[in-house]
Amino acid sequence: MIIAIDGPAASGKGTLSRRLADHFGLRHLDTGLTYRAVAAALLVKGLPLGDEPIAIEIAHNLDLSQMDKTVLSSHEIGEAASRIAILGGLRQELVELQRRFAETPPGAVLDGRDIGTVVCPDAAVKLFVTASPEARARRRTDEMISKGVDANFVSVLDDLKRRDERDSQRTVAPMKQADDAVLLDTTEMDIETAFQAAVEVVSRAKDI
Ligand code: CDP
Repeated sequence: MIIAIDGPAASGKGTLSRRLADHFGLRHLDTGLTYRAVAAALLVKGLPLGDEPIAIEIAHNLDLSQMDKTVLSSHEIGEAASRIAILGGLRQELVELQRRFAETPPGAVLDGRDIGTVVCPDAAVKLFVTASPEARARRRTDEMISKGVDANFVSVLDDLKRRDERDSQRTVAPMKQADDAVLLDTTEMDIETAFQAAVEVVSRAKDI
């Protein structure tokens, strides 16, 4: 069983995906981390973000079990990840890796921007998780402050809007709700309410 979860930054899709995977006994892959890991490797080597052959080579040798979310969660790496995410050849390489993960029994929850549309178009369940830009910026700001990182609501909101624009306007695999995805707008929901709603969607699909 494959569950595809897509949506914009700070929509809550990461937490939801982790909890759904635990609940249904599935593995979980945050595909954003794969883009972040490649971007981080380019930044460390001081290579230009547009160097696609090197980016593909890094992706080819990527070990999913070695991706450290704490290290990769920085704002700088997120920004770089969304810049390299426009490279078609790189995406193809990462998509293959993500598909292999998804197809390994007993199945998995994958979250990202193009899971329901490109990576796993035949997923048993698809959710598109969203929230207003202001709600997402509030969550991201609180999250950063709780980690001791200096954060300002207005600049976080600006960043999110810029990244949403880049992710939804790119020509290759833009962020988009799949036709058969269920929309979950979490603007007015806390994580527990959103989780219960997602469990309901998955349980309904499993009964079909
Ligand atoms: O956690 P957050 O939503 O801030 O970002 P992320 O999910 O870690 O993704 C970082 C960037 O990677 C996004 O802005 C996208 O440009 C890109 N990405 C993508 O293109 N396709 C995916 N399946 C996942 C991430």
